[in-house]
Amino acid sequence: MDHFQYRDGILYCEDVSLEEIAEAVGTPFYCYSSAHLKDRFEAYKRGFGKRKHLICFAVKSNSNLAVLNCLSGLGAGADIVSGGELFRAIKAGMRPERIVYSGVGKTEEEMAYALNEGIAMFNVESLEEMALLSKVSKKVGKKAPVAFRVNPDVDPKTHPYISTGLKKNKFGLSREQALYAYKKASTDKWLSIKGIDCHIGSQITEISPFIDAFRRLKDLIGQIEGMGITLSHVDIGGGLGISYKEEVPPSPEDYISEMVKEAQDLDKTIIVEPGRSICGNAGVLVTNILYTKENGSKRFYIVDAGMNDLGRPSLYDAYHEIRPVRQLNTETEIEADVVGPICETGDFLARSRQLPQLSSGSLLSVMSAGAYGFTMASNYNSRPRVSEVMVHGNRFHVVRKRETWQDLVRGETIPEEAC
Ligand code: LLP
Repeated sequence: MDHFQYRDGILYCEDVSLEEIAEAVGTPFYCYSSAHLKDRFEAYKRGFGKRKHLICFAVKSNSNLAVLNCLSGLGAGADIVSGGELFRAIKAGMRPERIVYSGVGKTEEEMAYALNEGIAMFNVESLEEMALLSKVSKKVGKKAPVAFRVNPDVDPKTHPYISTGLKKNKFGLSREQALYAYKKASTDKWLSIKGIDCHIGSQITEISPFIDAFRRLKDLIGQIEGMGITLSHVDIGGGLGISYKEEVPPSPEDYISEMVKEAQDLDKTIIVEPGRSICGNAGVLVTNILYTKENGSKRFYIVDAGMNDLGRPSLYDAYHEIRPVRQLNTETEIEADVVGPICETGDFLARSRQLPQLSSGSLLSVMSAGAYGFTMASNYNSRPRVSEVMVHGNRFHVVRKRETWQDLVRGETIPEEAC
């Protein structure tokens, strides 16, 4: 995390100390480095070189308007999975012709919205979805640009919850179904075939599964074009991993250069849908130790952020490095669990972690929290969602206000009829 470094013993995001932000906005808060977003996006771009491409940022990984706006300004498009994400992308200034729409459960209303906005293409995931999209297109009076998401049946060697390209997963169409879908779509005057799509999983730290999937895709493209159907785009999905602990994933530039090499004989625009590899290490979650306590041999740091703010440790047993915002002079480390205030045993940010001996009132920074952090946050235990801050050099901006208790009950009513 190049843009999060200690200076005189205090952790900084770019040129702003996290202590200063904590003082101004309170804790917990997410803090994003705009320089990191930019570096990672540019690395993707360099990988493509002169090759025709479209980098569609996966909005699900971080959907803050400031993040989307920053990336859109650099030329990014968006990979969306809901009408809400489309709304955000457009609000943040993303151009609809750079937006692709993935997901297995698009509704009629969402399809009509995306058609009216004029998105680049729908990544269709089932035959029933294709039929509905054609119906909606007719109603709207606009042809739908489509790609079919193919399930290449490769093992991305990642956590089972985030691997998506195996036969047993719910995503995409099998090879046989895809061939049938392309044939059918080619005779449907409300569908306009643009490309082919796949996405095999997330937090993938080797290039080989991507190459594997791409070769299978190429094979299929040959068969589809053999039926007289031309494809202008090939979407290789997202999924490149980041370093949370000791992983050494390829850089976006190396990964993309390899894919571009594989695509040498394909005269098509390459679309990629990265999320985590752009924003994961752009963000941290800063939290304050409320209490420390010991139960027998176990030591706990009870902090003001919980599983509702960052769900990854509880959901996937994911590792997030934890650093004290203010370094201590002592070398002594103790083993502690960093836990939140929520009434669940699964509410932890770290377990059995070697950490310096800290006292209540100390700030901790949960690292690598820029992807699937805030976007997966909830109001569980009626906890207002935290604020988000974006740093630009020596300035910071609150890009989402902390929710209030009033926000928690917005939209709720008590019926007059007595219980
Ligand atoms: N495209 C599609 C169709 C996807 O389903 C995803 C992620 C992406 C792109 C972006 O993948 P990325 O480049 O970020 O790996 N909540 C989990 C991750 C779920 C990923 C879902 N799909 C986590 O916190 O690890």
